[in-house]
Amino acid sequence: MAKAKLLLLFSIYFLLLLLLLLGADARPPFACVGPTSSLPFCRTSLPIRARVRDLIGRLATSEKIRLLVNNAAAVPRLGIGGYEWWSEALHGVSNTGPGVHFGGPFPGATGFPQVISTAASFNATLWELIGRVVSDEARAMYNGGQAGLTYWSPNVNIFRDPRWGRGQETPGEDPSVAGKYAASYVRGLQQPYGGKSGYLRLKVAACCKHYTAYDLDNWKGIDRFHFNAKVSKQDLEDTFDVPFKSCVVEGKVASVMCSYNQVNGVPTCADPNLLRNTIRGEWGLNGYIVSDCDSVGVFYNTQHYTSTPEDAAAVAIKAGDRRHCSNKNQKMLNITTQHTFGPLVPGLDLDCGPFLAQYTQGALNQGKVNLADINNALANTLTVQMRLGMYDGDSSKQPFGSLGPRDVCTPAHKELALEAARQGIVLLKNAGRALPLSPARHRNVAVVGPNSDVTTTMIGNYAGVPCGYTSPLQGIGRYVGTNHQAGCTDVACSGTRQPIDAAVAAAARSDATVVIMGLDQSVEAEMVDRVGLLLPGRQQELVTKVAAASRGPTILVLMSGGPIDVSFAEHNPKIAAILWAGYPGQAGGMAIADVIFGAFNPGGKLPVTWYPQSFVDKVSMADMGMRSDPSRGYPGRSYRFYRGPVVYPYGHGLSYTKFSHSIAQAPAQLSVQLDGKRAASLNSTTWLNRAVRVTHTRCDGLTVPLHVDVTNEGDLDGAHTVMVYSVPPEGHLAPVRQLVAFEKVHVAAGGQARVVFGIDVCKDLSFADKYGIRRIPIGDHSLQVGDLSHSLSLRAATVLI
Ligand SMILES: *[C@@H]1O[C@H](CO)[C@@H](O)[C@H](O)[C@H]1NC(C)=O
Ligand SMILES: *[C@@H]1O[C@H](CO)[C@@H](O)[C@H](O)[C@H]1NC(C)=O
Ligand SMILES: *[C@@H]1O[C@H](CO)[C@@H](O)[C@H](O)[C@H]1NC(C)=O
Repeated sequence: MAKAKLLLLFSIYFLLLLLLLLGADARPPFACVGPTSSLPFCRTSLPIRARVRDLIGRLATSEKIRLLVNNAAAVPRLGIGGYEWWSEALHGVSNTGPGVHFGGPFPGATGFPQVISTAASFNATLWELIGRVVSDEARAMYNGGQAGLTYWSPNVNIFRDPRWGRGQETPGEDPSVAGKYAASYVRGLQQPYGGKSGYLRLKVAACCKHYTAYDLDNWKGIDRFHFNAKVSKQDLEDTFDVPFKSCVVEGKVASVMCSYNQVNGVPTCADPNLLRNTIRGEWGLNGYIVSDCDSVGVFYNTQHYTSTPEDAAAVAIKAGDRRHCSNKNQKMLNITTQHTFGPLVPGLDLDCGPFLAQYTQGALNQGKVNLADINNALANTLTVQMRLGMYDGDSSKQPFGSLGPRDVCTPAHKELALEAARQGIVLLKNAGRALPLSPARHRNVAVVGPNSDVTTTMIGNYAGVPCGYTSPLQGIGRYVGTNHQAGCTDVACSGTRQPIDAAVAAAARSDATVVIMGLDQSVEAEMVDRVGLLLPGRQQELVTKVAAASRGPTILVLMSGGPIDVSFAEHNPKIAAILWAGYPGQAGGMAIADVIFGAFNPGGKLPVTWYPQSFVDKVSMADMGMRSDPSRGYPGRSYRFYRGPVVYPYGHGLSYTKFSHSIAQAPAQLSVQLDGKRAASLNSTTWLNRAVRVTHTRCDGLTVPLHVDVTNEGDLDGAHTVMVYSVPPEGHLAPVRQLVAFEKVHVAAGGQARVVFGIDVCKDLSFADKYGIRRIPIGDHSLQVGDLSHSLSLRAATVLI
């Protein structure tokens, strides 16, 4: 009996030990457990600002300074752990930053398609859903001590030039689509809950980067660390700023990152106009501003913007001289009980890199910054940490506290990665309805090309370790027998020793040929811009020879972030179909096969203009101008301003079925009411052909109702994105046309669906004048949907007061 009891006790002891050991990979609590947990900054019943104030009041200056950098030091005497702010989750939890570690119970995370591919789905529901899944996995990894809670994603710079190596990370060239992507993905990641208005709790904190006009990495000797982007006020307002504004105002992002480059001679991370007046003042950022890694060091060491490092530290923290700032709309966090706090309008709050930890004390000693500036910066970062629950004690007892290894790479998450890849594939050409192939008729398929059996190529940059891969060869192999020949040893495909002949032989003896070509990170990446748009090396030769020899149809599949000039393939009748798969993520090969064999009807559309090579021969990558300038032979950029020849236009994308549109309802005219005084001075005739300032109208909440019917005229179900463009009246420096709304709908074969849009007059029908002031042109606008054009007469109402 006693022996049995002892045994029982012993096994209970063992069980407890085992539990303890199993629990050992959970994160040690960050703060507010043990003796310090009764301090006011740990009290969840107090308002966050009071907790932040309390905590800042307890910190010594040297401790504060060590919190201004990404690897924030622990403050052991207050029970606060060290924290690595730099984690990334561009399209899945990524180990690009030091905050994320794969291994142990978290060997990988779901690897979604690169953002440019996901953008091509034009499905905002999908964008938000991916964000939610990524933040589930991020929280799970945080709980396990292998990731942070602050993610420096998404990248919402405009894909301005087709050569940009990081264009793949972005949602493309259209500012409002990028803005919608930013707001959707950020909402998905942050999933705000509970709390009071400004202090909503966050699942994780996202960051929109890189503010602003950053879209050149390294091109013909010009690099991002030295580049001074010369940007007009006009382009800044209606192109470069648009996605960031949407991210802050609509997405309510918790952070913005400033960039390495200068804008008009001032490093963005030292520009009070950008950081204070725009991001905080106009847009009301509720969060922190972080440098790129380490852009403060870069503007001192590389750009020699200040004469001493202390000046650089001061200029960043203060973002210039406070006296020159106007913060009329500033939403201040009112911290007045301690007079060491200024109004909460610092410049940079956090430095990714060591610079501020090294030089802030010196700047303080020299009187270049004061404690209030530092307190303000900390108030912004600490508030975000509080909103993340980091000072609420044991994180396992908090919302999302139960997420763990079993919530990562779940079947549902992997299925979403596959679904996203399918939705992002764009059918560029399908002559004679060559696609889909039939597994019954095409039993043996030659699978050719340097990207035909790739894995890491499919996830692009800023990726993590995926749950697993399906390469194109594997995906196609699930449908049919394959004859695999790479044809090129790598994407560079240069030199005489390329195995092209073997690929030609494989094509000659197969029922169909799929050639999977394109680019990878050796050709386009961070710090690697392209110089040309053609397929690298002998890739075109391989495609042409294989197509000529192929017994059956040849299908060209392109993997790339940026556009490729494949005019040769578009015009070659031997190449029946062309698909662009972007970088389709961990399940990309399966998605490609599902499209090729008709298990999925493609509905993706190009998020960038596919220019011909002649465009880049003519245009310097360093020329930031969006608008065309015929006087100097400058063609302008993006579908909004460029009217020259294209390989494929923005928004191009075919389906296996045929969709048609009809406009069911839309007004023929609309009045915009002017504010009383201005309307009184002029009548409606004299307002015609003018453009009124948005701030002088009452356009707030004014929308143009537009009802569009979509009919699926074919015999296959499919999804279709209805894209609505507006064309302003002639005679303004407004875009030639501008996407003002889009919506994706699923329509069964033979069926019809109605899409109802409300086009925002202030936002969508306005453009910036040369002073960067938004105006609405009065006169005849037209709304375009597919081939349809609807005329809308916009009038200035003179009805007074
Ligand atoms: C800030 O709070 C103090 C004390 O609560 C109050 O007297 C003051 O008017 C407030 N200031 C602003 C700008 O809201
Ligand atoms: C509008 O004003 C113009 C110029 O002041 C004038 O010639 C015209 O008759 C006015 N039209 C109406 C409808 O009042
Ligand atoms: C948009 O994406 C979501 C998530 O994958 C999907 O459920 C939905 O069907 C998509 N919409 C259309 C019209 O394809």
